[in-house]
Amino acid sequence: MCGIVGYVGDKKAAPILYDGLKKLEYRGYDSSGIAVNDGFKIDIVKKKGKLDQLEGSLKKNTNGGTVGIGHTRWATHGKPSDLNSHPHCDCSKDFVVVHNGIIENFQKIKKRLKESGHNFKSETDTEVIAHLIEDNYDNNLLKALKATVNELDGSYSLTILSKYEPDKIFVVRKDSPLIIGVGEKENYIASDIPAFLSKTKDFYILEDNELAVVSSGKIEIYNDSLDLIKKELYHVDWDPEMAEKQGYEHYMLKEINEQPDAVRRLMSKRVTPGGINLDELNLDSEFLKNLKQIHIVACGTAYHSGLIGKYLMEELLNIHIEVDVASEYRYRNVLIKEDDLVIVVSQSGETSDTLASLRMAKKHGAKILAFTNSRGSSIAREADHVLLLKAGLEISVASTKAYLNMVVAFYIFSLYLAEKQNKIETKRLNKLSNDLIRLPDLLEQVIKDSESLMKERAKQYVKKQNAFFIGRHTDYTLALEGALKLKEISYIHAEAYPAGELKHGTLALIEKGVPVVALGTRKFIFEKTLSNITEIKARGGDVTAIVYKGAEGIEKVVDHVIYIPQIDDLFGGVLAAIPLQLLAYNTAYLKGCDIDQPRNLAKSVTVE
Ligand code: M6R
Repeated sequence: MCGIVGYVGDKKAAPILYDGLKKLEYRGYDSSGIAVNDGFKIDIVKKKGKLDQLEGSLKKNTNGGTVGIGHTRWATHGKPSDLNSHPHCDCSKDFVVVHNGIIENFQKIKKRLKESGHNFKSETDTEVIAHLIEDNYDNNLLKALKATVNELDGSYSLTILSKYEPDKIFVVRKDSPLIIGVGEKENYIASDIPAFLSKTKDFYILEDNELAVVSSGKIEIYNDSLDLIKKELYHVDWDPEMAEKQGYEHYMLKEINEQPDAVRRLMSKRVTPGGINLDELNLDSEFLKNLKQIHIVACGTAYHSGLIGKYLMEELLNIHIEVDVASEYRYRNVLIKEDDLVIVVSQSGETSDTLASLRMAKKHGAKILAFTNSRGSSIAREADHVLLLKAGLEISVASTKAYLNMVVAFYIFSLYLAEKQNKIETKRLNKLSNDLIRLPDLLEQVIKDSESLMKERAKQYVKKQNAFFIGRHTDYTLALEGALKLKEISYIHAEAYPAGELKHGTLALIEKGVPVVALGTRKFIFEKTLSNITEIKARGGDVTAIVYKGAEGIEKVVDHVIYIPQIDDLFGGVLAAIPLQLLAYNTAYLKGCDIDQPRNLAKSVTVE
């Protein structure tokens, strides 16, 4: 949430910062700003709206300095406006700050600072930080910064320019990510690796409460007690091309099409015709054998993947599985035992509520396994065991390929565990492993098969204000995901229901033309779903069914059908995710929505 960049080197900072922000725009996009220090003065340019709004005034109003910081904002305190955009400064513009996170006690600090004569310009929580540094400064900015953060409650990653040390950038983090990229006679600061992936692949990842002083030729990192520390460099092997659209009109469409390859990468060396190998997780065999309770914790789309995980593990393992939305889990009085496994799922690995849940569960002594797409993320670093999703860089705010890899990760992990617990026969395991191996090819086929029908369907959906998604068992979890995708990018109100639940109230909303997507990928329960579809049709609903090939009688009942290819009943849901994503994409496209950066949202949710 919010993107931070910093540059210190031998080139003009402003264009480099702007390019870095462009790569981070998915983290927040309601306003942006850049500050550049040329050793004499610090110029600040900031603008409400998307980043392009900044571009024009940047050239006119910033000096040619080679040290600077920038920010793209997702508003928390104070509406999006020029004034509330970052950077923020103290009374005399000696200290200039950009911030990600939330300062919870800012009102109290602001009141005190105002009473002592400080003059505030914005409604943000961030501005208090600049004024606090001003108060704490006594010829040593590192100490002033430490004294300042000691007074702050909440989360922050901070990047600071100062008039007093114009060739340096000061940074600190707590509960909000910050990395330092290492270059030749130049260094970079960012809240996320893609910002400067085209410049360097070597990064320091700051831990909570670490501070750093970054100049063109030197990076000094300090611990909480201000002792200089040595940190390991983290090398990424990502290709900067991954961060480009490569001919697709939107990242979302590119990422939908990348799913077959993403699944191939996830399964490589882990799934073979002979079974599943996840020994890389280093989970103790005895622990796995005796495991009786698993908690799955995540947010949004990742939570929906966890719901599939629950149904699967119950089906295959017959043990107790809890799934929770992280923002609830962290504050519930959950019974977590030392011999429980807690699986946290997060594409970004930085989602604040998921991270807090991880920490809470860890305190109870449970083992933490993270499914994440981000190797160096806080969640990856704090979990005991990590299953890397390998979906590749996902830029569109609406998650597609990371979701699918989360779902497949649950399949793989469930089968692995089923084998460890002797709950699956070798013959069945081999059959399922072989079906998993076929999955990427089948995904390619489903993308082809559903493209044109979903374009057609979108022409109807675009005229609607409400839509319903129904399914039973794992299909219900897909319905939830389908509804979320449609809401998120097309702004059409969509609700998901277990198919059997409609008649307990919601059926009252079904009348002629109300669009309903019905999922029927599970043979064992299809007839029940079919009855529920019939109930909808009897009230005039317009039903699009996504069902397994051979689903008896469906064509006579519904308006439109998409068949998903033959595969073991267990895996139908993976394939059905594709038409749901394409329906949302095409509807949003026809509505002219900003597909990759939907209103009010951000990719990485690092605030509560
Ligand atoms: O990075 P995470 O997987 O932890 O993110 C969780 C949610 O914020 C995320 O899945 C969100 O729901 C997506 N924008 C949905 O497409």
